[in-house]
Amino acid sequence: MSDANLYAGREQTLVKHFILQQYLERFAIIVGTHKDTLTYVDCFSGPWNVQSEEFKDSSFSIALEQLRKARRVHQDKTGRTLRLRCFFLESNRSAFNKLKQFTDKITDVEIEPQNKKLEHAIPLILEFVRKGGSRSFPFIFIDPTGWTGFEMNAIAPLLKFDPGEVLINFMTGHIRRFIDYPEEVNQQSFVRFFGSENFREKIKGLAQQEREDVAVEEYIRNVKSTGNFPYVCSAIVLHPEIDRTAFHLIYATRSLAGVEVFKDAEKRAMAVMEKARAHAKQRKREEKTRQAELYSGEILHDPNYYNSLRVRYLVKSKQAVLDLLEMHNEVPYDQACALTLSFSLSWESDLKEWIRSWVEEGVLTITGLKARQHVPQRGQGIVLVWKTSREKRPAEL
Ligand SMILES: C[S@@+](CC[C@H](N)C(=O)[O-])C[C@H]1O[C@@H](n2cnc3c(N)ncnc32)[C@H](O)[C@@H]1O
Repeated sequence: MSDANLYAGREQTLVKHFILQQYLERFAIIVGTHKDTLTYVDCFSGPWNVQSEEFKDSSFSIALEQLRKARRVHQDKTGRTLRLRCFFLESNRSAFNKLKQFTDKITDVEIEPQNKKLEHAIPLILEFVRKGGSRSFPFIFIDPTGWTGFEMNAIAPLLKFDPGEVLINFMTGHIRRFIDYPEEVNQQSFVRFFGSENFREKIKGLAQQEREDVAVEEYIRNVKSTGNFPYVCSAIVLHPEIDRTAFHLIYATRSLAGVEVFKDAEKRAMAVMEKARAHAKQRKREEKTRQAELYSGEILHDPNYYNSLRVRYLVKSKQAVLDLLEMHNEVPYDQACALTLSFSLSWESDLKEWIRSWVEEGVLTITGLKARQHVPQRGQGIVLVWKTSREKRPAEL
């Protein structure tokens, strides 16, 4: 089976794996420049619905490949050998046996596979991460099948690792379906999952997309405060065959450079996602009509749903940046950038475009640019100076 066919019928997993691979590729190289050890923890390892006999379409195999790549890069560049450590957790016995067969053959990476539920494995994970020592950087991946098994209280010690980063699959589709079930048991399990009761009041009476946004925002707020993360952002992953969110990947970090790498992975992944959705939707149509279409799925694909989401979040993020500028008048570029990137589908290139048009309109000036520099960059102490109040703001944003 070719690598392209590994994800037929589960293209959302292709997008998840693409983001994981793209992110880890750069993460491992960057972190490897100032740390000796990379510690990777997959709390829900699988294998899960894999098609490849060599587990190429599993998160643990993808992660190992990227960590090894970083080790090679550093070896070639500096002669230094990065120490790689992985903790792979899987609760299902038969999936675990496959995982173990795979890891037993690996001799070049320290691996601890464990057949336990996450709820019962937190002390083991804490011990494993601590054993990495002070020159280690932990990355924690939480990729469940629903919303149970990783309650905020339970994962709090993992979120608190500093240094450390976390990537969480927020199972939006499942959560959307069950969040309104009135049974007390169900409601209590959501309270434990979110780590607060606030979500109930906040989502009441909202239309579907807004409810989804508010639920994700609430979860992000709690991840942020529990782990004391300055930056948490999310990537939307859509269903392959219908115009609806499958899940959000929520990424928490203490480094703006990490945000940049994640958002870059998100941006690339969206192109991959739309291409995969185009083919998946065509497959569905052809199954229904039992007729092959004349043109390729990509030509026939209607990008309206994706485009409407992008516009939705751009409007929100632009408004948030404007509010920040109006409130403070002088805002470090890095801060405006972090705010822009905290919204899904909103990228630094968008912020630069808004800044360009505000400068042209004469409502914004930029201080700290070097001679002949027109475009601000992060990490240069550049400040955006807003020159107009809310009343004077041009009607056209
Ligand atoms: C979505 S799959 C993981 C997929 C994998 N991360 C990947 O991308 O290839 C979730 C896995 O977690 C396992 N699992 C479910 N509940 C768990 C729990 N409480 N603790 C640990 N593993 C669990 C399931 O058996 C399943 O293999």
